[in-house]
Amino acid sequence: SEYENILTETRERVGIITLNRPKALNALNEATMREVVRAARAFDADPGVGAVVLTGSEKAFAAGADIKEMADKSSMDMYLADWFAEWEQFTRLRIPVVAAVSGHALGGGCELAMMCDIVVASETARFGQPEINLGIFPGMGGSQRLTRAVGKSKAMDMILTGRTMTAEEAERAGLVSRVLPAEGFLDEAVAIAATIASKSKPVAMMAKEAVNAAFEMGLGQGVLFERRLFHSAFATKDQKEGMAAFVAKRDPEFTGE
Ligand code: HXC
Repeated sequence: SEYENILTETRERVGIITLNRPKALNALNEATMREVVRAARAFDADPGVGAVVLTGSEKAFAAGADIKEMADKSSMDMYLADWFAEWEQFTRLRIPVVAAVSGHALGGGCELAMMCDIVVASETARFGQPEINLGIFPGMGGSQRLTRAVGKSKAMDMILTGRTMTAEEAERAGLVSRVLPAEGFLDEAVAIAATIASKSKPVAMMAKEAVNAAFEMGLGQGVLFERRLFHSAFATKDQKEGMAAFVAKRDPEFTGE
């Protein structure tokens, strides 16, 4: 394989990226970050792939950024390398990405899940930002994305005490969209991605872009941005096909054009 720290596969129109550093509970070192970004961008650009699943092992989605790699770094090392900045490329993917979380999603692992568009959790999943126990605090977006996902009080609780949340609590708080049984968990997550991948890829990309604008723009600007994107959806063949299929009472066949 061209990768050392991840596995990739395609199941019909779903691209799957599996974090694969079992001895380190999928700790996210620099090499892993580079591979995840590269693999995800390749799926993004592939018209044969309509959605991506990012997952780990049963025991750990990812137990954080790699503590051993960071331990001896100076502030200047971090600043000059702009440590973690490359993850921004992951957040700029246009294809929908589903995080399928089983086991530990801690620190950078939780933050990576929150960079995805949808987080589904096995009932075994545990989410947390335990950085405070290491004398640091979240550095891959956790203070911003967790706060937007679960609100200030719970985000402060998680980040300041370092405690973990169960899958059920994470779902109640809005961090997770669905909790799935541990048995057959990944297949179920892939089925969710397959549903997304059966739609029009460009229109799904527009929908993702519109939802993400809610985190960057004021309401008036965001609604205008949505409306302009909505108008441009009418430039796709898929819009014509989707509406014609409805009127003819048949299933649509989207081609991504
Ligand atoms: C490097 C890690 C690691 C990590 C686990 N390992 N997490 N290595 N970075 N984040 C390694 C362990 O050192 C150990 O290697 C092996 O994985 C198995 O872990 P164990 O601790 O033996 O497993 P277990 O007893 O099952 O405990 C699981 C665990 C624990 C509760 C998840 O590993 C743990 O607390 N991990 C750290 C969680 C954490 O603090 N995450 C935040 C990281 S900081 P050896 O070689 O000893 O067998 C972070 C920063 C984000 O993410 C951005 C801000 C800078």
